[in-house]
Amino acid sequence: MERILTRWLDIPDLRKLDVYAGNGGYKALRKALFEMKPEEIINEVKNSNLRGRGGAAFPTGVKWSFIPKDSKKPVYLCCNADESEPGTFANRYEIEFDPHCIIEGIAIACRAVGAHTAYTYLRGEFTVQKRILDAAIAEAYANNYLGKNILGSGFDLEVFTHRGAGAYICGEETGLLESLEGKRAYPRNRPPFPAIQGAFGCPTVVNNIETLSNVPHIINRGADWYKSIGPEKSPGPKLFCLSGHVNKPGLYELPMGFPLKDLIYDVGGGILDGKALKGVIPGGSSFPIFTAEEAVKVNMDFDSVRAAGSLMGTAGVMVMHEDTCMVDALKTIAHFYHHESCGQCTPCREGCGWIEKLLIELEAGRGKMEDLKTLVDAATNMEGNTICVLADSLSMPVKSFVPKYRDEFEAHIKLGRCPFKTSSAQQAA
Ligand SMILES: Cc1cc2nc3c(=O)[nH]c(=O)nc-3n(C[C@H](O)[C@H](O)[C@H](O)COP(=O)(O)O)c2cc1C
Ligand code: SF4
Repeated sequence: MERILTRWLDIPDLRKLDVYAGNGGYKALRKALFEMKPEEIINEVKNSNLRGRGGAAFPTGVKWSFIPKDSKKPVYLCCNADESEPGTFANRYEIEFDPHCIIEGIAIACRAVGAHTAYTYLRGEFTVQKRILDAAIAEAYANNYLGKNILGSGFDLEVFTHRGAGAYICGEETGLLESLEGKRAYPRNRPPFPAIQGAFGCPTVVNNIETLSNVPHIINRGADWYKSIGPEKSPGPKLFCLSGHVNKPGLYELPMGFPLKDLIYDVGGGILDGKALKGVIPGGSSFPIFTAEEAVKVNMDFDSVRAAGSLMGTAGVMVMHEDTCMVDALKTIAHFYHHESCGQCTPCREGCGWIEKLLIELEAGRGKMEDLKTLVDAATNMEGNTICVLADSLSMPVKSFVPKYRDEFEAHIKLGRCPFKTSSAQQAA
């Protein structure tokens, strides 16, 4: 497949404005400013079937169309670069190697929804990425791709960057807005949705970095071209973050709908040490795991992964081989969500804690058979009963790991230890 989102591999120094502009950069912005009405931009993006890359797969053009026309209040765009989902590492490379594509996507989106201020919210650890993005933004201002009266079009846009302080919940769109406003990142109840009452009480679009970096390509080459890449309802080039027990982990650009089996065995070079595949989480740690038998049949696009019983989320593909203790893996996941729960909702705050405690006991060989039912009950009671879906992000892995690897959970209880560890290693742990 032609490289689209990872053009930086073919074009050295693409992060510099003169190189970016010399390779067709900012052409889409000119088109959006001089040849298209805002409504036409929204329609082109709607027709392209671009769906959000931040995890929820919401149609981007539809989201933009929710912003009230002729709003009396200012409209804002927030570009989500919090990138905190475990196993997910695409946005950081996009910022490092192609920051002008993001800026161009932001500017086109702002023109479409009538926003004159955009914020890019970066995860706390992205110090280098913030420096790179700030330098690219300064270059864009110096060349009038940002600022007042962009390229003589009469359209003004200010872009700011903001770095978080390192909490997963700051990536949840309303937690992000609270944090941007200088408060603790407590997610908000919806409605009202950000499109009506977002940043500073004003209509706001929140989009992921990867989502926005697709936009210049769609405006340049059209919705039909975009839809021709992968399945029509879930199309486009996609950045897959492949990690875990594969020979060649890394970031790969592939068309949507690419077979997971080929991602693991061809692109990823197969399983480490020639071992057998045991399980794959396809979309970051928040989603149900596939067994080896399920994984090799799935195509990687939003609808196919959903139909197979999981979600593609951020396309953080985590591969586990036969030596992985699934109780230990789930315990690690539970520790993450327990630690990152903001604590506002009782089912999430308490549920994540109980689940982690039960898994600590089970993994250590001190569990009871009834704990397996309690785990699934606690997970079920968390789902849909909270302000945001962080609770579901633990519930889904629990409800897939326990039934799919039940023998392994039972073996811990029957043996009184982890079957993957010798008894002395268990004692030392
Ligand atoms: C707990 C939690 C963490 C999230 N973290 C991120 C994140 O780091 N980056 C991101 O783009 N979206 C994240 N999201 C999804 C956002 O809430 C939102 O759906 C997304 O930024 C919308 O952009 P999109 O439509 O372009 O996908 C998170 C959601 C939840 C519930
Ligand atoms: S579900 Fe969890 S993380 Fe989300 S608002 Fe409630 S307590 Fe906070």
